[in-house]
Amino acid sequence: MAKKDYKLPSLNDARKRNKEVSEKLSFVLEEQYKDLGKDKKYFLVTHGCQANQRDSETIAGILDEMGYTPSEDEEKADLIIINTCAVRQGAEEKVLGEIGALKRLKTANSDLIIGMCGCMAQEEKTVSLIMEKYRQVDIIFGTHNITSLPKLLYEVNTTRTRKIEVFSKMGEIIESVPVTRFMSHKAWVNIMYGCDKFCTYCIVPYTRGKERSRYKEDIIFEVEELVKQGYKEVCLLGQNVNAYGKDLHNDYTFGNLLNDVAKTGIARIRFMTSHPWDFDDTMIEAIKNNSNIMPYIHLPIQSGNTGILKKMNRRYSREEYFELYDKLKRELPGFAFTTDIIVGFPNESDEAFEDTMSAVEHCEYDNAFTFIYSKREGTPAANMEDTIDRKTKEERLQRLNERVAFYANKNNQRFKDQIVEVLVDGLSKRNSNVYSGYTPENKLVNFTANNVKTGDLVKVKITEVMSFSLNGECIEE
Ligand code: SAH
Ligand code: SF4
Ligand code: F3S
Repeated sequence: MAKKDYKLPSLNDARKRNKEVSEKLSFVLEEQYKDLGKDKKYFLVTHGCQANQRDSETIAGILDEMGYTPSEDEEKADLIIINTCAVRQGAEEKVLGEIGALKRLKTANSDLIIGMCGCMAQEEKTVSLIMEKYRQVDIIFGTHNITSLPKLLYEVNTTRTRKIEVFSKMGEIIESVPVTRFMSHKAWVNIMYGCDKFCTYCIVPYTRGKERSRYKEDIIFEVEELVKQGYKEVCLLGQNVNAYGKDLHNDYTFGNLLNDVAKTGIARIRFMTSHPWDFDDTMIEAIKNNSNIMPYIHLPIQSGNTGILKKMNRRYSREEYFELYDKLKRELPGFAFTTDIIVGFPNESDEAFEDTMSAVEHCEYDNAFTFIYSKREGTPAANMEDTIDRKTKEERLQRLNERVAFYANKNNQRFKDQIVEVLVDGLSKRNSNVYSGYTPENKLVNFTANNVKTGDLVKVKITEVMSFSLNGECIEE
């Protein structure tokens, strides 16, 4: 395909925002695409966050409706789709390695169709690279183009040419999209898409479009259906769930939504992610008043230094974060708190890093997801001067991780000899006689049991406490 035959995405176009309510569309699979996957198998690989996991469930749902069947074995697949993440360089390199390795399968079977989607597909540099150097890829579709997959597959099948469809736009809300959930007891439920926060290091607002909320009726209906199907847990998803509803201008907030989702009677409700900026009192009240909202809050701090936070465009100071954090700790006793931290943001000084260390001392998190800053082309931070060397950043990360582990361990001590409720995920990955699942506080528990199955809520006595998991034995099956 000659260079001018396709349109590249544009991160620059993707940064536009308006205040209008997003359009709501409804998906219908056209008749002509329904048998396209007959006798064909697909293999789907998912990278990145829960938003991508949920998107993959939509992709699987669409493929299933087209007659494809899932394959456990990529060697036997007629269609391979890689759903990608662009949040850090490491994530991208992994995907490129994986796509590189698929060349072998394509050479062995020229009928094999390879698709790439997700956040990397939204970047012009990645699409150019794939078009020039990774010719084994037949289809590239963006995060706004998932519902075009049937059409793209049809076109590739009939014309045998490569197809790209990546829109760099604010996006809409598409309902009635098929879904094949990967779990039978826990479900991801999107409550909003996109992000308008534009933290200066982050690519997500460019790859996912504007912050736009689903209508509450559609969310509640989805959760009610999940309850009927026997689901035990929903995780309400959004890059900033606290901002839910603001774009709909109807005064219905995330606190209201939490109350209404709680009324469906689902056993466990979680939500991801809370930005400190919009965490209001109606949310705290809703969390307090509903016992099926789990005692676990993920509240990313990113840095403990006000100067760095300002450069990150996080919209809060160290003191403001502490004020909110301390209030949540006070009002929600027994809750577990986790965070995200970036070390080595451009020109982060030793003093600034020490502020992050002391924030960890102050907050005593149950756990923290820690990252070395990764430069994302197209974001404002990519143009900031950075004189801090890699080794310093790695040393900082290691020091930070040691303190994170210390507090994780300290927080877990309170579970020793306690009886906790665990939602069973299934057999543990490490040991075939051991089951695993999570407590309400989102603590991973590995436990022995005789007669439990995925989706059971069981009582487990904790016998041993580690930094990042608990061991126990089931006392009630
Ligand atoms: N919307 C969520 C986070 C989504 S990305 C929130 O704001 O909390 C998940 C985490 O990846 C972020 O919290 C941040 O800690 C990290 N991250 C994002 N961009 C990054 C970058 N360029 N380099 C390193 N870490 C990054
Ligand atoms: Fe990225 Fe910030 Fe949006 Fe989270 S809030 S997705 S870190 S821009
Ligand atoms: Fe990655 Fe996109 Fe999620 S960049 S973290 S998959 S929103």
